[in-house]
Amino acid sequence: GKKDKIAADKAAVDAMRTKLNEIEMKGKIVIGEGELDEAPMLFIGENLGTMSGPELDIAVDPLEGTNFAANNLPGALSVISVAEKSNLLSAPETYMDKISANVPSGIIDLDYSIKKNINNLAEFKNKRPDELTACILDRPRHKEIIENLKDLNVNLKLISDGDVSGALLVTHKKHNVDIFLGIGGGPEGVLAASALDSFDCFFQGRFIFDSENDKMRAKKMGIKNFNKKYSLKEIITGDSIFCATGITSGDLVSGINIEDDHFISETLITHKSTGFKSNIKIKQKINGT
Ligand code: FBP
Repeated sequence: GKKDKIAADKAAVDAMRTKLNEIEMKGKIVIGEGELDEAPMLFIGENLGTMSGPELDIAVDPLEGTNFAANNLPGALSVISVAEKSNLLSAPETYMDKISANVPSGIIDLDYSIKKNINNLAEFKNKRPDELTACILDRPRHKEIIENLKDLNVNLKLISDGDVSGALLVTHKKHNVDIFLGIGGGPEGVLAASALDSFDCFFQGRFIFDSENDKMRAKKMGIKNFNKKYSLKEIITGDSIFCATGITSGDLVSGINIEDDHFISETLITHKSTGFKSNIKIKQKINGT
């Protein structure tokens, strides 16, 4: 609510980094604030933790929805995903074409037309297309997709930002979203995929490399095929923990609530191996524990 995206992001990065460095682990950032030359902290490749304990890959988006936080609007989150070493894809800071739904594989696909995806989904869910809702970032680049969805009479949930949350709305009936699709951030796609894995949902993503520079950076991260369509299991495998904590209230979680000298936070936590998926509220003393 200070109209300052940069300060809000910095506060989130500083807080997350301080806490992560207290944890007994050999952690490594695979998705972060960018590369070392552009981000002094939580950059891709940065080592975190006490450097003893398990070796972990860490993906972070300390402030997802910088506009939301700066303008005190609903939907700002702080997001982290942790997996065992080499089990989480290191994603470059490029766009990604994404699709998710609570369906088994084979029903929807990035390579299908909008019509085919919607008809397949409708058949699978035993609904008519006009009973389905699609979530998509409200961007000019999605004009054609949105027109196609309108022609099919699909209900739209147009989001102004925050597509980690958007992709996760397919996980539960209460959100009333049947499919998430469209182009957003690649790192956000990987983070969403890690939670969708615990919910046994479907996700596919394909990075979009607009420039030679983007391709060069991706190559450095080990990406050889620039047109590759990534399945969920190619993005994340094995055990993982995902947490999304509300900064301002949104569809997934409530924001920080201040009560006298305490604040209450709400976090959506998923843990793949135990099947734990729940929203947890934590009350903490301001400036204390
Ligand atoms: P920030 O928190 O970094 O501002 O990202 C917000 C966001 O809406 C993401 O959720 C989404 O993936 C991306 O921006 C979309 O990018 P663009 O605004 O360029 O369409």
